[in-house]
Amino acid sequence: MNTVRMDTVLRDPNTVTPALVLDFENISHTYDRFTDAFPNGLVFYAVKANANPDIIRLVVEKGGGLEIASLAELELSLRAGATGEQIICSNPIKNPIFLQRMYEAGVYAVVVDSTYEVEKVARYAPGMRVYVRLAVDNQGSVLPLAGKFGVSGDEALQLFDMARDYGLTPIGLSFHVGSQCLKVQNWVNAIRACGDIWSEAEARGHEMSFLDIGGGFPAGHYHDANIPTIEAIGEAVMDAVRGFIPSYVRMLVLEPGRGLVGESGRLLVEVVGKAKRGDATWLYLDAGVFNGMMETFEGFPPVAALMTDDAAGRPMMRYTLAGPSCDSCDVVARDFEMPETHIGDRIMFLDAGAYTNEYAVAFNGFPIPAVIKLECEAVAEELVA
Ligand SMILES: Cc1ncc(COP(=O)(O)O)c(C=O)c1O
Repeated sequence: MNTVRMDTVLRDPNTVTPALVLDFENISHTYDRFTDAFPNGLVFYAVKANANPDIIRLVVEKGGGLEIASLAELELSLRAGATGEQIICSNPIKNPIFLQRMYEAGVYAVVVDSTYEVEKVARYAPGMRVYVRLAVDNQGSVLPLAGKFGVSGDEALQLFDMARDYGLTPIGLSFHVGSQCLKVQNWVNAIRACGDIWSEAEARGHEMSFLDIGGGFPAGHYHDANIPTIEAIGEAVMDAVRGFIPSYVRMLVLEPGRGLVGESGRLLVEVVGKAKRGDATWLYLDAGVFNGMMETFEGFPPVAALMTDDAAGRPMMRYTLAGPSCDSCDVVARDFEMPETHIGDRIMFLDAGAYTNEYAVAFNGFPIPAVIKLECEAVAEELVA
């Protein structure tokens, strides 16, 4: 992170709020950390985390792939220069038009996790490569995804056989440990489970080549040492792949969303109102649950700093932080400790590069954050100068 340049933009009174400031140099650097930590691993960026076309283009230019969930994400990816071979779809539910377009575009492979989906893929994308999503333990992730998707080992084997009977080409397995996964062991356990299914699938004559370990890579180690690093996860995953997968994994796929872009974004907001209600002091911000901070509603604890030069000298207080809309659920944090804050002060939220603008709507007419890009080239020039 080029903290000097980031800080300059965040402290500039002319910077509009709410603003999402994205550091492209850091996204590029984080991409390299993934490829270093996972030798032979292939990064397929989960576009849903932040579908900014310049991020997609950066990933494609660096030789990475894209994981998509919808027709719109397919079109964005193709427009950014990706070929079909550089795209996979790990959304277990796909509509016919999306399947047809992926088939025409030559998308590398799509996931299945039900007999209905196997039938649908066979009908609209005949012969397509498919991989099966396994249900795995999501405890230990801040945003668990378990329950909605994924099958057991026995069901996975049945889907492999069924897919082959329907003329599809089963190639391997995927899973997702849950977003912001804080337990490295969950990847290890999931890979161990994949190893058993992999052996049995090969015994049934399936050619297994593809292991997709999903997303879940957490953001925030730089401010919380309990959060595992990309490097720590890489070491454990590579050991597990060597130890548990019985034959060569031709494609070891990673689908980082938050892990690739989360730390590279800061959300800057302004305090637009203040009120005392009972024991609580409320600060009303120009962005809230609807226009940028939906993840706080899902239980994600915000990490924030007051952006005034004298913040260190102000007494510490506890605040309820709320968004600007009329909805009573528009509360970002309660009992949040911060230096004394006044109307007009600005607050910066860390790790906002993922799932901020993607989740945002202009409810009540409050705008979604403006995107401010810190370009790779601009940063490089500045460093040289
Ligand atoms: C299939 C799939 N892959 C990857 C991701 C990205 O996850 P994360 O942002 O936790 O890395 C998601 C997120 O929901 C997902 O559903």
